[in-house]
Amino acid sequence: MDCPIPQSELDEIYTFAIDLARKAGNLLLERLNERNSEQVYTEKENAVDLVTQTDEDVETLIKKAIQNKYPAHNFIGEETYAKGSSREYLIDEKPTWCVDPLDGTVNFTHAFPMFCVSLSLIVSHRPVIGVIYAPMLSQLFSSCLNRGAWLNESVRLPLIRNPSIPPMPANAPGKCILACEWGKDRRDVPGGNLERKIESFSTLAMERNARGGLGGMVHGVRSLGSATLDLAYTALGSVDVWWEGGCWEWDVAAGIAILLEAGGLVTTANPPEDIEGPIEDVRLGSRLYLAIRPAGPSATETGRQTQERTVREVWKRVKQLDYSRPGA
Ligand code: IPD
Ligand code: CA
Repeated sequence: MDCPIPQSELDEIYTFAIDLARKAGNLLLERLNERNSEQVYTEKENAVDLVTQTDEDVETLIKKAIQNKYPAHNFIGEETYAKGSSREYLIDEKPTWCVDPLDGTVNFTHAFPMFCVSLSLIVSHRPVIGVIYAPMLSQLFSSCLNRGAWLNESVRLPLIRNPSIPPMPANAPGKCILACEWGKDRRDVPGGNLERKIESFSTLAMERNARGGLGGMVHGVRSLGSATLDLAYTALGSVDVWWEGGCWEWDVAAGIAILLEAGGLVTTANPPEDIEGPIEDVRLGSRLYLAIRPAGPSATETGRQTQERTVREVWKRVKQLDYSRPGA
């Protein structure tokens, strides 16, 4: 990608973002350790869409630091956006920080370790810097365009190399770890998103001869409760496939930056009419995501071909999801 920001400037922003993510993550941990009773939260859209004072305070800390250092950059943060009236995709070509101060709020309120702060810089609709810090796990994932993707600034992603990065399994999604999220749309309506998700998870998990031969027989199904960490673990190579609908740009921007820099693929969750056609890059604001881990070549395919084959095999087994938004 041609980025209008010179590399030296991107490198400086990257250093700033890592420092800021550490400060924000430390505040998350401080708040978690301070609690001596159940974490107080407010419900937003429904009883599983939560916000705590910590989400608000961490977003304020991040927003102030960014506006102070980079006043010309735009800022979209989950909690600032939630207070606005628009539900449109508000990111344009300009450098824009897309921030989730706390991804995995439900996990945070239960002291379940999969929560993090997630910061990303988007330029011309492409996340070029991503930093995710999960303080309870002491894991910091980061990437900058052309600088690689990293765990704790020292281990290059993906982690899996034996001795080189393996291709996707020949019968993927068989032998894959699938990550997916139950999400916040819990409506009990026939053909609703929850029903379609569960149907899709089942098909992907079932034995091969199930459902007219569509059983995916994945090795395992995982649900971490943080979309951005799902993507980070896909960049790591611990997750092979992530399929999800319903989250928003701040839930995925940093994870997408890191996964792309590590060599992963991200496209739409919903199977297109012609699944054999070209595989398009994901639209950040689409709320529909299918991610595949970095992959090397096999004897007969390039790494990219093994990823695209996996995308098509997943599309054959999943239902269309409906997470519309104005202007989409
Ligand atoms: C949520 C998490 C969850 C995903 C939801 C997100 P939040 O973010 O990423 O895994 O399923 O769609 O909204 O509310 O914890 O920041
Ligand atoms: Ca959040």
